[in-house]
Amino acid sequence: MAKPRVLVVKRIPSVALSALEDACDVEIHSGDRELTSDDLIARLQGKQGLVSVLTTPVTRDVLAACPELKVVANIAVGYNNIDVTVARERGVIVTNTPDVLTEASADLAWALILGITRRVVEGDRLVRTGNWKGWALDFMLGSDLRGKQLGVIGFGRIGQAVAARASAFGMRVAYQSRKAVGPPEYQPMAFDRLIATSDVVSLHCPLTEETRHLIDQTSLARMKRSAYLINTARGPVVDEAALVWALKNRIIAGAALDVYEEEPRVHPELRTLDNVVLAPHLGSATTETRTAMADLAVQNVIAVLSGRPPLTPVG
Ligand code: DGY
Repeated sequence: MAKPRVLVVKRIPSVALSALEDACDVEIHSGDRELTSDDLIARLQGKQGLVSVLTTPVTRDVLAACPELKVVANIAVGYNNIDVTVARERGVIVTNTPDVLTEASADLAWALILGITRRVVEGDRLVRTGNWKGWALDFMLGSDLRGKQLGVIGFGRIGQAVAARASAFGMRVAYQSRKAVGPPEYQPMAFDRLIATSDVVSLHCPLTEETRHLIDQTSLARMKRSAYLINTARGPVVDEAALVWALKNRIIAGAALDVYEEEPRVHPELRTLDNVVLAPHLGSATTETRTAMADLAVQNVIAVLSGRPPLTPVG
């Protein structure tokens, strides 16, 4: 019997690829160029599986034009690049990669919290450009974390893992969540109160129509002038133009971002500001985690195409 046919949109670790190749006839897009929806439509003809990433536009049109498609396995926990409603209507199973990236993503959020509050990246720039004049008592002072409030918006797996690290830094935790309930030592809070009282606000919600521009000029203006905003969720959760305004006018003390509204484009004014740390979407980027993510996506494809239930379906 012919093997099912699968398109993989990026190079993936060889261990995951060979497992997929054992079970399926695999075509890989190995170029750096992102596939457009037209490319996807052309390359998915006659294919039953797609291994996608967060930049792959699995739109209504793509799903409608690829009638043989049975499974889309996104190598990411977020899946805002896929029209899940249409996929469901058409009987296409969508899967993501939760759990395996939780700890790496939480670590990166903390790297950003420490990086911005202790001015590590700004200091690195100073040293590299030869502008460091030497130690001084009042030189490049940052902010302590001890005794302060970490406000976690979106209390899923990653938000909870970020919160779990807070006690190591002597921070108390407030969280805003539609569903999850944290341990009694964490304080549940309504959004308005959380952003007005937190010293560090860290975003961990999915991108939905409700959360698009959740952090806008109004919410930034409600934050403490000494507060920091951390975004490792999705770029459009923050209105970047409003953030530029808040950082330039010292409405908040600083921000650290791993995600942007139109990646890889970054608002040009953000690049000129010292009180923001800019990371290139590194949340889950460790060798171990990315390998585990690719492996989970491949296992999902193999399961669905061999008639078994997927391991981590969404929707
Ligand atoms: C995800 O899985 O959604 C992350 O953003 C990938 O790094």
